[in-house]
Amino acid sequence: MPEVVRVERHGDVALIKVDNPPVNALGLALRAGLLAAFRATEADAAVRAVVLLCEGRTFMAGADIKEFGKPAQAPSLPELVEAIEAASKPSVAVIHGSALGGGLEVALACHYRIATTTAQVGLPEVKLGLLPGAGGTQRLPRLAGVAKALEMIVSGAPIGAAQAVEQGIVDELLDSDLADAGLAYARRLIAEGRGPRRTGERQAHLPDEDCAALIAAKHAEVQKRQPGLFSPLRCVAAVEAATRLPLAEGLKRERELFQECLASAQRAALIHSFFAEREAAKIAGLPADTPLREVRSAAVVGGGTMGVGIALCFANVGIPVKLLEIDGAALERALQRARAIYQASVERGSLSAEARDKRLGLLQGVLDDAALADVDLVIEAVFESLEVKRQVFARLDAVCKPGAILASNTSSLDLDQIAAFTQRPQDVVGLHFFSPANVMRLLEVVRGKATSAEVLASAMHLGKRLKKVAVAVGVCDGFVGNRMIFQYGRQAEFLLEEGASPAQVDKALRDFGMAMGPLAVRDLSGLDISHAIREGQRPRLKPGQTLPTVLDQLFAAGMLGQKSGVGFYRYQDGARAPQDNPALPAMLEQAAALRGIRRQPLSDEHIVERCLFALINEAAQILDEGIAQRASDIDLIFLNGYGFPSWRGGPLFYADSLGLEHVLQRIREFHQRFGAWWQPAPLLERLVAEGRRFADL
Ligand code: 3HC
Ligand code: NAI
Repeated sequence: MPEVVRVERHGDVALIKVDNPPVNALGLALRAGLLAAFRATEADAAVRAVVLLCEGRTFMAGADIKEFGKPAQAPSLPELVEAIEAASKPSVAVIHGSALGGGLEVALACHYRIATTTAQVGLPEVKLGLLPGAGGTQRLPRLAGVAKALEMIVSGAPIGAAQAVEQGIVDELLDSDLADAGLAYARRLIAEGRGPRRTGERQAHLPDEDCAALIAAKHAEVQKRQPGLFSPLRCVAAVEAATRLPLAEGLKRERELFQECLASAQRAALIHSFFAEREAAKIAGLPADTPLREVRSAAVVGGGTMGVGIALCFANVGIPVKLLEIDGAALERALQRARAIYQASVERGSLSAEARDKRLGLLQGVLDDAALADVDLVIEAVFESLEVKRQVFARLDAVCKPGAILASNTSSLDLDQIAAFTQRPQDVVGLHFFSPANVMRLLEVVRGKATSAEVLASAMHLGKRLKKVAVAVGVCDGFVGNRMIFQYGRQAEFLLEEGASPAQVDKALRDFGMAMGPLAVRDLSGLDISHAIREGQRPRLKPGQTLPTVLDQLFAAGMLGQKSGVGFYRYQDGARAPQDNPALPAMLEQAAALRGIRRQPLSDEHIVERCLFALINEAAQILDEGIAQRASDIDLIFLNGYGFPSWRGGPLFYADSLGLEHVLQRIREFHQRFGAWWQPAPLLERLVAEGRRFADL
């Protein structure tokens, strides 16, 4: 086994070096190595202080997530952390990169902490359905106070080194070599006669904090903002224990709460999506060392709903971006929207005025496509019309420099046809952002028939730079996400015709955990758009695939959703809160009569099964066709682009958790009752016959 911990002696200081690539995760070998190293320095009379640092790109990024769900092996992380804090010789953690989760807990157990200016510290366990289980919930409030600890532990968001110093989490910033700085700090401790300074011995809050009020407020906030999530409330409970109990008892309570989280199904689902995100970056047949085209500048064609949001994604990460519109008025409208979006962030307090100005400085409006001659990447976001796209891509082909990446944000057109409008189809790729593009994390990277490996790899890499979850998909109608959502939305409409109300359908799916109900989503995006998409699909329907007719009736009546004040719901006086549309029941009766059925009460369970199983069946078909690479990619698409509840792990993780045999059995029943749309996907049948799950693919 490679040596993951080395101890060097520098006079009377012991330097413990951790080397466990890629992120120095605290797996068994590292825990054992560290414990042995701290014990050895403790036993060595010549050692007067200890420095702990990590090799590679980061300090310890936490416990080894791969070990969760497997039998625990000693020494445990809490055991290691206790030994470090209890040591009689002062220890200094030298932090670079990220000290996260168990990594920060180790640092908090050290007696002093110094960090590089670019370092980050955080306790992100909540994002994995856990809570900090090695003393983080007990020690962080003792250093930073209860308010800050609650904020960091419940949000999971890391903070930068400068803020960590302000909060008392880090003692000082360093600007020299890690080892030199650590050794110098340790020698200072020795010279000044400063011994161990144990975090656990401090009071668990700041002098003026009203702990009970802070805990109650956070508890209420979590219940309101994160209903359905298991671990955030337990994070609050663990910090509450810190404010009330001596350290040893607080640690015991933290451990119990940690075990509850560890055993929860939500933990498994959230860890599934953590690894799914990392897996998605890997594309079969595309070597990790595929050369990348550098994107130092970008342009967006079309400053409408999507174009503006996409341009902001670039400015947000410091990439200069040009925005091309058809005339001065359209351009001014687009730039005005960009300014308004940033201004709203400034007013909310999430962006400084300085950052706003810097970002706006990176955004340049242009009217002449000759201005795109020197950019490394162009994203087209003009009207969804093949003819308009043809004109735009022919011009891009003429003006863009050789090697520029030409991308389309089309949501439904054939990317291969678009690529064929140029003489360089190998440089064309789909970059399918989701609305609002500056907010939604999902980016479907659409690989055309001709897209080169280099362009695909560069597009995936760009996705990460833009802080998106980039998922590679193939070309088909709607790609992955929209193709699945068509099935889901269609079932929602059928359910209305069979007897449910919009409010019941939406509530059943919100109760399942979806961020919004499908019919409220439709009203938000506009029923004219739903109608146009459906008319486009009509010629491609297979025998027996009938369509619900309620949408046609709403469209014919000019009920287009929020934009017209009425759709599936009524929005009175411009209010966003939906009320019943009084005209709808008669339309639904008529639709039911056309189908030759009688409307009758439906259960919420039936509603959820119809909508969810339609997603799952389509996903299986998409996988079989190779449009998505792996089941977890599909999960990511739904988690990051469609408001699927994070704690259910995505539609296919959910299907596996229900048992595919059960899912297939219900789909077969629906096939018998409701016909062609429910033809079971052959992949689902194969998986069930072989006793396998989506996760085994
Ligand atoms: N355990 C195991 N593997 C990990 C890991 C961890 N804690 N953190 C990252 N990795 C792996 C990734 O899976 C990936 O593997 P791959 O190359 O085989 O796909 C590799 O390390 C690199 O990760 P990223 O691609 O994410 O690298 P980045 O440089 O983009 O990000 C990072 C680095 C910020 C450290 C990010 O990896 C991260 O956020 N990691 C998770 C941190 C975390 O959640 N820590 C808490 C763990 S739970 C805990 O500590 C419980 C304790 O309280 C008891
Ligand atoms: P939009 O209608 O809001 O904006 C299109 C803009 O393109 C208009 O401002 C128009 O002036 C401009 N434009 C048209 N021709 C142009 C040209 N030749 N040169 C420069 N600018 C030109 O459209 P929206 O909604 O932003 O959609 C754009 C693209 O994004 C479409 O392909 C759409 O399918 C796709 N998309 C839309 C999503 C949405 O939710 N609206 C989601 C994902 C993709």
